[in-house]
Amino acid sequence: MAKFKFDLKTAGDLLVLAGAGLSVYYLLNHILNEYVDSSVKQSEAGKKSKSVLKRIQASNPQLKNVTFNQYEKTLLSSLVTPDEIDVTFEDIGGLQNIINELRDAVILPLTKPDLFASHSALIQSPKGVLFYGPPGCGKTMLAKAIAKESGAFFLSIRMSTVMDKWYGESNKITDAIFSLANKLQPCIIFIDEIDSFLRDRSSSDHEVSALLKAEFMTLWDGLKSNGRIMVMGATNRKSDIDEAFLRRLPKTFPVGKPDASQRRSIFEKILLNVELDENDFDLEYLIAKTKGYSGSDIRELCREAAIHSIKDYIRDNYDHKTKQLSNGTVDSLPVIPLKTTDFIRTANTTIPASTID
Ligand SMILES: Nc1ncnc2c1ncn2[C@@H]1O[C@H](COP(=O)(O)OP(=O)(O)OP(=O)(O)O)[C@@H](O)[C@H]1O
Ligand SMILES: [Mg+2]
Repeated sequence: MAKFKFDLKTAGDLLVLAGAGLSVYYLLNHILNEYVDSSVKQSEAGKKSKSVLKRIQASNPQLKNVTFNQYEKTLLSSLVTPDEIDVTFEDIGGLQNIINELRDAVILPLTKPDLFASHSALIQSPKGVLFYGPPGCGKTMLAKAIAKESGAFFLSIRMSTVMDKWYGESNKITDAIFSLANKLQPCIIFIDEIDSFLRDRSSSDHEVSALLKAEFMTLWDGLKSNGRIMVMGATNRKSDIDEAFLRRLPKTFPVGKPDASQRRSIFEKILLNVELDENDFDLEYLIAKTKGYSGSDIRELCREAAIHSIKDYIRDNYDHKTKQLSNGTVDSLPVIPLKTTDFIRTANTTIPASTID
């Protein structure tokens, strides 16, 4: 019987074999996990898109005979119908000039293209609109309110929807964005954080995303919708967007930090249905105190103030032993008018005024 000789070479071979086995195991494991993950996500999106389809067909009978391909159906889960949007221009404070311009230059051509039928092709809504400025100042609100006001479908695209992991799928999803919008028009294709999608095409770009951007631009150029499909983008970093894309977003609106009169308007919108103390609420003081705040900071300030005013009442009037308010009721808190002090305490402690202007 041959004697088994355990030399260094055999040990090396065995190690290589074990290493290769382990690599194959991890590779298979990774692929299987990815597959399971994506099929779970797909089935969730599938359910959502089915219910969206039912809903939009019920309210838009003309869509009953329209067929949607698999990719368009995937996108339906990112679709918001005008009746689902809860933001109107009335809710937006301090941006009246932008709103007026949007009404004339964007909404009218989107909703009433026939009005312009006898005019030259020059009078059309822009193919693209860009809102840019610091975070929390109303860019997304404006885009949603446009969709609400114009009765347009709102297709909100995220980078993750488009950048599908599997090569080839992303292209099909990009095609589907435009074909779906075409079937649904009027439709707004809204790309939030558009800079992360349409960032400067640099040589370091992944080949797939460079191709995707080129595809996106071609489809965008090919839109023949009489202005009833519009690409709308929002960004905090306009300078990061490729020149070629900026050219396709000819209508740009800076949405900056609100000045004093804009802050007044934002406070008035946010506090519209809130009871304020007649003798102890000083709006001028709050406007002066909130220099550098964004609309979102102001909203948070008001929310905190409202919560704090109730907290005080609960602390003074709620008996933790009997689990009752001192007036004998268990479940109804009185409405307490907000005082300036509710805001000051909050302004000093919780909301730092952001410094970016
Ligand atoms: N001009 C405004 N009037 C009233 N509320 C505002 C205004 N701006 C911001 N807000 C409040 O702040 C919230 C965030 O606003 P929005 O999502 O539009 O900001 P954004 O500019 O899109 O920010 P980001 O760049 O971070 O996406 C809104 O839901 C609203 O409550
Ligand atoms: Mg936004």
